[in-house]
Amino acid sequence: MIIDTHCHLDKEDYENLEEIINNMKDNIIIASGVDLRSSLNVIKLCNKYDHVYGTIGYHPTELDEYTDENLKIIEDNLSNPKIVGIGEIGLDYHYGKEDKDLQIEVFKKQLEMARKYKLPAVIHSRDAAQDTLEILKDYKDLKIDMHCFSYSKEIANELIKMGVKIGIGGVLTFKNSLKLKEIVNEIDLSNILLETDSPYLAPTPYRGQKNQPLYVKYVAEEISKIKNISIEEVEKITTFNAVSQFDLKIKK
Ligand code: NI
Repeated sequence: MIIDTHCHLDKEDYENLEEIINNMKDNIIIASGVDLRSSLNVIKLCNKYDHVYGTIGYHPTELDEYTDENLKIIEDNLSNPKIVGIGEIGLDYHYGKEDKDLQIEVFKKQLEMARKYKLPAVIHSRDAAQDTLEILKDYKDLKIDMHCFSYSKEIANELIKMGVKIGIGGVLTFKNSLKLKEIVNEIDLSNILLETDSPYLAPTPYRGQKNQPLYVKYVAEEISKIKNISIEEVEKITTFNAVSQFDLKIKK
């Protein structure tokens, strides 16, 4: 079994969403919301498919329609047993420098929710390493997944020391991702969560095309090559990591 710990499954992105989800029926998908609409969609998918779990929350570049009332609706849905975390949340100074203050405020509110409901958080951080680290230092008690990790080896090590898991996706399979391959080679597999971030960032050999959760197997394959271990070993350990990170109660 393999677990895609982070992806987006919107009808707008997939004409054949049912098929895309069924492609993973022997595996587990954790779908992620980025605003109220997509979070409510995640809840629908979780209720419909046994093998789909979800995280819900407000992404830092999706704050146009953010209100405290909308966040309250997200909070009210955290009791759904298939909702296994808050996400994706975080900071993005690449696209959203002008609303930094709002990003930080909404990020902290959602980390407080994660603490209150004892849920893990899935974090997006782009061009915002220092602020993200600074904020996370106040939340060392939380289980954190730094999704689609894109920072340096030093930051990876600092995060791992804080108990943060490193989310690794299709970017790892790109020829020019030498820095990321080196990080994966050096860190222990126990710190890694597999993900796709579908529909974005499809791995080689599908680079540039639409990604889907099933392609998480190419990420596992790349890790097995880098670490010189079997794909089965990668799947076994990363599945264990994901089950414990998100406290998954798998009905199988
Ligand atoms: Ni994402």
